[in-house]
Order: sequence, then C-alpha cells, then structure tokens
Amino acid sequence: MKVFVTGGAGYIGSHTILELLKLEYDVVAVDNFVNSKPEAIKRVKELAGCDFSFYEMNVCDDWQLDELFTKHKIDCVIHFAGLKAVGESVTKPLEYYENNLNSTMVLCETMKKHNVKNIIFSSSATVYSTENEMPLTERSRIGGCTNPYGWTKFMCEQILRDTANANEGWSVALLRYFNPIGAHESGKIGEDPQNIPNNIMPYIAQVAVGRLPYLSVFGDDYDTPDGTGVRDYIHVVDLARGHVAAIEYLNSHTGANIFNLGTGKGTSVLELVSAFEDATGVEISRKIAPRRPGDIAVCYTSTENTKKELDWETEKTVFQACADTWKWQKNNPHGYDSISRSHEDIRINSKSSS
Ligand code: WQD
Repeated sequence: MKVFVTGGAGYIGSHTILELLKLEYDVVAVDNFVNSKPEAIKRVKELAGCDFSFYEMNVCDDWQLDELFTKHKIDCVIHFAGLKAVGESVTKPLEYYENNLNSTMVLCETMKKHNVKNIIFSSSATVYSTENEMPLTERSRIGGCTNPYGWTKFMCEQILRDTANANEGWSVALLRYFNPIGAHESGKIGEDPQNIPNNIMPYIAQVAVGRLPYLSVFGDDYDTPDGTGVRDYIHVVDLARGHVAAIEYLNSHTGANIFNLGTGKGTSVLELVSAFEDATGVEISRKIAPRRPGDIAVCYTSTENTKKELDWETEKTVFQACADTWKWQKNNPHGYDSISRSHEDIRINSKSSS
C-alpha cells in the first residue's frame, strides 16, 4: 500500500513516516522545507533502514503534484503540510489562508483527477470553540476560532467534508490533535522549531539545554488545581501510530469522519515542568508571567470514539515524552542544525587553537 505524505520532514510527518516504514508501507513524501530541514528525511531513512521516494516541492504546485500522482499509484494521502504558528497567523493571515487552504484544494483536485479517494487531514483541537465543557468529544461545538491558523484548520475540514460528500467512495479522516510532545526514543528525530518556540515543550527543552534562560509560566490564576493551564499532552509516536490506525479505518469506511487524538488526561504547566525535571534530572528555571491572550484554562479530550472506531489508544506517558524530548534536545542542541553548527564550532575552535 502506497501512502503519500505531505510535510514529511516536519515534526509529526517525520515520526509518522518512520512508523509507516517500520510496518512496510510504501511511502512517497514531499516537503518545501519552509519550516523543516532535509536532515530529518535523512535520519528517518537511517532509522528505518530503508529508502523511500522524497521530493522537495510545494503542495500548492498543481503541475508538480500532478506529475507525482502520475508517477506513483497512491492509495492514501496524509496531509500534514501547512503553516502552523498561532501567533504568526495573526500577523500574516493572508499567507496562512493562501497556503493552508490552497494546498488542500490543489491536493483534492489532484486526487480527483487520479481517482485517489482516501485522505487523512492533520487538524487540531483548536477548531473547538472555547465554550465547550470538558472533556471534548468529536461532537463538541466547533468554530469561534481565536486565530487565523485555527480558522484555516476549520475551513480545510469543511473543504474535505464537502468534497467527500460530493464524490462517491471518498473516505476522509479529520484527525484533531491535542498537544503533541516528545520524540522518537532514538533521540535522532524530534521537534525543531525554526524560531523561539511558541509551544511549551520545545521551550522547556531549550531552557534545559541552555539556549533560553527560563520558562515564563503564562498565568497561575486559572481555575485549575495549581492555577496553571491544563492540556492533553500526547506523545508524538502515539500520534504517529494513530495515523496508521486511521489508514486502516479508511480502507473500510467512506464519508468524512472525525477523531480526537489525545490521552484523555489533563496535565498542568507546573505538572509538566515537574515531570520534565523528574525524567531528566535537569532543573527548569521558571517565572510566573501574565496569562497569554487567547489561552483557555483547560483542554483535554475523551478517548471513547477513537478507541472504539480506530481500535487505537495512547500507550506512552508524559514522563516518557519528557525523557524522549530531552534525549533529542541533548543530542541536538540546535535541532537538525546541530551537525552544521558543530562543524562550525569545530572550524572556529580549530582556527582559535592554531
Ligand atoms: C500549552 C500550555 C500555555 C508556552 C497550541 C495550538 C494548537 C496546537 C498545540 C498546532 C498553555 C502554557 C506555553 C510557554 C506557558 N498546535 N505555556 N509558557 O496553546 O495549548 O496549543 O499548540 O496544531 O493548535 O493552539 O499549546 O504549548 O502553546 O501551551 O506557560 O512558554 O502551556 O499557557 O497553558 P496550546 P502551548
């Protein structure tokens, strides 16, 4: 079975390709490296011990995409590619709408032309409105997104739902991720934000490795047990395995179906920091700061639907995710740039010692 992965060099894309290769799926992947590095693809091939087809390209390029679908008989698509920085989407909304919606529409048009009917879409819990009771379920209210990034996920879901309804035999899985964290146990692939991390786990990791001075805890006056924000942190390898389960689901279902991918448990900011310190032995300097605009107090999901429909549930703990994150960050202080940076350091050091 041949799976086409867009955004294959990204954090979740790279971990998903590795799981697919381990299960002997054929993989064709693309990435334009706008928010990722070629080194990630190289390391996935090393970890898997096998090669796969990869092309540097932009999914919005309909001519290149058509060529790829002509060359490869695709059975299922996993669409990760997209801009995903919440804060950046507020300052650059048109770039987010153009890239995230256009890539999805070009992909659907190309699938239709080549009679490919199965697609998994990388969506997000951010599509849920903030008024919902917890835990969230797949039937919780959506909309009222607090940023353009969230609206692009909301709109892409609608594009895919309508396309599935209009085309006989299409099968769509809308996977709404909660908070992905962690890294592959090898420490060779992981999350590599290109700028100062927006998300808490890579921020903690960069404090631990000395790239950032301390963690700002955004608010300790929420209505939660310790006053800090509560989220559903899911290990990225569990998340990757959820995509494999979704591929199998699409083979025996049609229409558009929604799945929340989370652990079903909430963890506060201070609990996450403590877990990281316990898992790594590294103390994390932190300061209480004002709440971040747009943040909600609590967000976690029920796992009932995914367990029943996908026969999938998370297996890894937040503690394991912290340990795996640290192994990645410790071995790669500058992410995938670490190799070039270390070569740079060696060049500078050799100059200074000569
Ligand atoms: C988690 C908690 C913060 C940083 C976002 C997107 C969502 C998805 C996951 C893409 C909150 C607190 C954070 C920091 C902190 N991304 N925090 N100090 O906001 O739940 O979700 O990322 O799909 O779509 O909305 O994740 O990691 O930014 O924040 O105290 O430096 O950590 O207040 O309580 P979030 P996050």
